[in-house]
Amino acid sequence: MQPPLIPLSDGVGIVRETGPGVTDLKPGDRVAPCFFQNWEGGPPPEDLEAGRLGGPLDGVLATHRVFPSRGVLRVPDHLTDAEAATLPCAGVTAWSALFGERPVRPGERVLILGSGGVALMAILLARTAGAETIVTTSSPERAAKLSALGADHVIDRSAKPDWAAEARRLTGGRGVDRVLELGGAATLGHAIRATRTGAQIILIGNVTGNTAELFLPAILTRQLALRSVSVGSKDQFAALTRAIDRHALRPVVAARHAFDAAPDAFRALEAGEAFGNLCIDIAASG
Ligand SMILES: NC(=O)c1ccc[n+]([C@@H]2O[C@H](COP(=O)([O-])OP(=O)(O)OC[C@H]3O[C@@H](n4cnc5c(N)ncnc54)[C@H](OP(=O)(O)O)[C@@H]3O)[C@@H](O)[C@H]2O)c1
Repeated sequence: MQPPLIPLSDGVGIVRETGPGVTDLKPGDRVAPCFFQNWEGGPPPEDLEAGRLGGPLDGVLATHRVFPSRGVLRVPDHLTDAEAATLPCAGVTAWSALFGERPVRPGERVLILGSGGVALMAILLARTAGAETIVTTSSPERAAKLSALGADHVIDRSAKPDWAAEARRLTGGRGVDRVLELGGAATLGHAIRATRTGAQIILIGNVTGNTAELFLPAILTRQLALRSVSVGSKDQFAALTRAIDRHALRPVVAARHAFDAAPDAFRALEAGEAFGNLCIDIAASG
């Protein structure tokens, strides 16, 4: 990213004014921006990365922004501003991983790694779809919070370092149907061990690094499908908001910081302290 740049892709705001010819939005509507300003639906465009908010396009850590009307979407009324602001990246990514190609089915066993923003949203959505969730985490405190959120099984990897074997055990030795792979280099090989024949691994994150060494026979003999997700389109965002509305789901917000204290939010993010999304409240500033 080349500064100067307004950071952040995710936010929510009120429409103040619309330009000539805008018929689908009016002043007062509460909207969130699409993570990719150039991906309305179908397969991603060739120049996808050029349309990403928060770099290379200016993001939303600002009091006022101008968007094309096709670049924003109304958010569900029951959500607070902070909850609605979590949707464009974490929400849409979880949605794409579960309901993109080969949508999740009731009874499917889904292994979700960690308790970051994408994982927490995935737990809510997978549970709503009737899937059985197995979630890994790093401490007993986080494990308790994940259980309270509705995770069916939580594996505390500080107590059970071989979490892949534990995930298999929880499926009666068969293996999970789907993995939301958020860990990257250090977790992918283990995630593969946790799967059943014909399972799919959705590659999403690289929290532990970018370069993974894989034992190919495990992938080949189990006929695993590996596919990646890059957030999602406006159509997928719209589908997510309908599901959130219909099931009155509430994303997890960890903490709110005032606009003037935005650097504190970035520090907390870097330290990995938060359980849930961090919110910077632009109205709460000097
Ligand atoms: N492809 C996409 O479209 C897309 C979209 C959004 C984010 N991402 C990527 O997805 C990843 C997660 O992002 P996020 O914002 O949801 O989460 P985040 O806030 O960055 O948190 C990541 C979580 O990973 C877990 N973790 C840390 N070290 C781990 C390890 N060694 N093994 C397993 N889990 C570990 C931690 O949970 P515990 O402490 O509970 O284990 C932590 O809360 C990032 O790499 C991000 O860049 C990709």
